[in-house]
Amino acid sequence: MTKRISLTQYLIEQQRLHGHIPSQLRLLIEVVARACKRISISVNKGALGDVLGTAGSENVQGEVQKKLDIIANEVLIEANEWGGALAAMASEEMEGIYVVPNRYPQGEYLLLFDPLDGSSNIDVNVSIGTIFSVLKKPDGGHGVSEGDFLQPGDQQAAAGYCVYGPQTTLVLTVGDGVAMFTLDREQGSWVLTADDVQIPADTKEFAINMSNMRHWAPPVKQYIDECLAGKTGPRGKDFNMRWIASMVADVHRILTRGGVFMYPWDQREPEKAGKLRLMYEANPMSFLIEQAGGASTNGHERIMGLQPAKLHERVSVVLGSKNEVDRVTQYHLNAKS
Ligand code: AHG
Ligand code: MN
Ligand code: MN
Repeated sequence: MTKRISLTQYLIEQQRLHGHIPSQLRLLIEVVARACKRISISVNKGALGDVLGTAGSENVQGEVQKKLDIIANEVLIEANEWGGALAAMASEEMEGIYVVPNRYPQGEYLLLFDPLDGSSNIDVNVSIGTIFSVLKKPDGGHGVSEGDFLQPGDQQAAAGYCVYGPQTTLVLTVGDGVAMFTLDREQGSWVLTADDVQIPADTKEFAINMSNMRHWAPPVKQYIDECLAGKTGPRGKDFNMRWIASMVADVHRILTRGGVFMYPWDQREPEKAGKLRLMYEANPMSFLIEQAGGASTNGHERIMGLQPAKLHERVSVVLGSKNEVDRVTQYHLNAKS
């Protein structure tokens, strides 16, 4: 029988071998994983657990909240607030930061999350997920403020997501490659099922919401037109397209078999940099993608190099197989010059 490695064992071994996971961080990751297990149980219950449909409220971005958006947010807060590893949390579903109540010890980390990614897929039984990013609270100063969260993605101590699909899979980086853990429901444990994940540099698969084509900027249009032209076009090969409308599921496919994912700026709301949120969607996904040998830009520069100005900042996203991302980025640079 092949030896099964649990998440706990993996993290302890990382700590021992490389010494770069302090015990607070290890605890924090285990707690996030436990929360994802609980969210997964609710997701699986679906209509039986009365978790489908809308909650009748809106979040700070003006989006209608689904019941599961709120349930997942509460599960993550409840699970994480008492452990002693965190100073504060921030979420897509909360306007301001959530400071750990003073009845609990304050830790040195900050946790950001998109509790339920792909909300439009909840009610139709298509893969959804949870995305998280861990930052260190800057040294000095008493208390914790929103400003402490405004750090570039390069500062992340850990990042990951959990995809609730045919299998429930947790994907994690602590800055030393990407590992995947599948939830064993009978045992209730996360089992390492892929380590040192690598994305092929080339691909024949792209993911973009094609219904927005008429609103795209010329470099995006050029790239997709060339893919669509196939074998007889300038790329000399046929491309396939996938769009799940859950970033988690699209990124999971890319980490598994390569591809390029784009949610670019477009003309629908030109004042917004993009649709996706920098701090709890784009940054953690970019960390995973880069750790797996891929690339991630906003069309012009590395996403993880961007200095955020606000918690719920949006960003244009191009990520995945390195050569394709470099090509899209080059088309944007050409358009500028
Ligand atoms: P969320 O459900 O957290 O608001 O995120 C949804 C995001 C992302 O997961 C997905 O790639 C994209 O929105 C889908 O947008 P469209 O419906 O515009 O295709
Ligand atoms: Mn999302
Ligand atoms: Mn969400």
